[in-house]
Amino acid sequence: MSVNKLILGDNFEILKAMESETVDLIYLDPPFFSNRNYEVIWGDEGEVRSFRDRWAGGIDHYITWLKERVVEMHRVLKPTGSIFLHCDWHANAYIRVEILDKVFGASNFRNEIVWCYRGGGASKMDFGRRHDTIFRYGKSPQHIFNADAIRIPYQAEGMGRKDDAMWGKHKGTDKVYKPNPLGKIPEDWWLINALNANDPERIGYPTQKPTELLERIIKCASNEGDVVLDPFAGGGTTVAVADKLNRKWIGIDQSVQAIKVAELRLHRQTDLFTSIYANSYALQLHKYDYDTLRHANAFEFESWIVHQLGGTSNTRQHGDFGLDGKMPDNTPIQVKRSDNIGRNVIDNFFAAVQRSDKKLFAKNVAEKKPVGYIIAFSFGKGAVEEAARLKLKESVTIELVPVDKIVPVAKKPAVTVEVNELSRDTKGFHEIEFIAVGQSEVGIEFYSWDFAYNAEKGFRASVIIDRDGKQQAKLKAGYHNIAVKVVDNDGLEGLEVIKLKVNGMVRVE
Ligand SMILES: C[S@@+](CC[C@H](N)C(=O)[O-])C[C@H]1O[C@@H](n2cnc3c(N)ncnc32)[C@H](O)[C@@H]1O
Repeated sequence: MSVNKLILGDNFEILKAMESETVDLIYLDPPFFSNRNYEVIWGDEGEVRSFRDRWAGGIDHYITWLKERVVEMHRVLKPTGSIFLHCDWHANAYIRVEILDKVFGASNFRNEIVWCYRGGGASKMDFGRRHDTIFRYGKSPQHIFNADAIRIPYQAEGMGRKDDAMWGKHKGTDKVYKPNPLGKIPEDWWLINALNANDPERIGYPTQKPTELLERIIKCASNEGDVVLDPFAGGGTTVAVADKLNRKWIGIDQSVQAIKVAELRLHRQTDLFTSIYANSYALQLHKYDYDTLRHANAFEFESWIVHQLGGTSNTRQHGDFGLDGKMPDNTPIQVKRSDNIGRNVIDNFFAAVQRSDKKLFAKNVAEKKPVGYIIAFSFGKGAVEEAARLKLKESVTIELVPVDKIVPVAKKPAVTVEVNELSRDTKGFHEIEFIAVGQSEVGIEFYSWDFAYNAEKGFRASVIIDRDGKQQAKLKAGYHNIAVKVVDNDGLEGLEVIKLKVNGMVRVE
């Protein structure tokens, strides 16, 4: 199982469920304490709920809210791990004294990093506020610090003096100081440009942090293969950089939009393969997509759903009387990855259960406990009647368990696309408008577009966040594959691919 995970949910709940001392580095960029609407980035249910949570009271409330999470972060860090907490003038003084010094211990404070950037718009009554604070604490004095991985040229970041003026014999001693060929370790103030509106890194949401900032943090405080956690993942800067630097990663966010944006970003960057069974990385949403489960690899699905029910799966794919797993008390489980299960499945299972362990069968009957469990997407009338007959006539209980009683399942949203030609120019370019309309019972969050869709490579968004589902593109004569994804409030997504022939006229094939 891979550690790489994007998890939708309140980080407090997720952190509490994580094992102790399993993470090497935590970077967190929590919402600042500003009580401003701009603090709400995504505007979906999850984020607004979290915003209200923090704002139920003043600064004390905010500090309590954050502190209980930092306590859990401290627990999940390995003794060699460190935390980088990103904040600004709104609450940095409180965060250092009231949270970090108390949870990590003042002696484990390592740096107050000042991230300086430029930007317009300042009050005429104050100095422009153009820095954020990043507190760095180790869990113990043995924390990782890879100085050589983050060295920069001596003159970098504005303060360097000429190398040759600096080095030589130290006054009054025989000691000769030489420059390190790898450069200097950066000071605790960092000049890294914030992303401007047109930066190619920009995904389309306001609090996105530059990858350069995260590169320095991840390189210095972790090694390849280590686990990096971002409990306020946002659009996934930390996890995208961690992945590029061959670290394992876990990103948590309470907003469906944030998680989906992070996912689309990872796809754009790499050939990562998503799966609920965690091959390359796992995506944990509140609900599972019916089609994905229904058509997933049968053996993987069986062992996963048995595990979700609380049992263990059989390691053998065949034999075992066709049984797929057992509960902790050894009561057998069978999984059928289909709908409308018929009567014959119940009868065959009944026979198999009796043969597989006669003693256990007799014991379960005597104690009026289920003799076995059958998991399926749905059960037909014949199966339900047969289970009822066995119970009534033979005092044998076979528990029929629909998948959606074990895990929440929903159908993914549907999407249709309207294509209109708006104009064409003399050079043969056609201006085309695309209007996508998604349908979901829980509401549509946003659309994403891939204007050069390649089924083998998968969906690589050219436009990641489009809240209205409307795009215009200038296309040349030829064939074009255009894909649109629609994401609903549960984080489930529908995909529509349009094959467009542009040749004197525009035709959807
Ligand atoms: C400032 S943004 C992080 C931006 C991120 N560093 C980036 O570069 O994209 C803060 C994020 O915290 C999320 N958030 C707020 N409260 C949360 C909670 N209780 N659990 C998980 N995520 C939360 C918000 O949805 C938002 O995406």
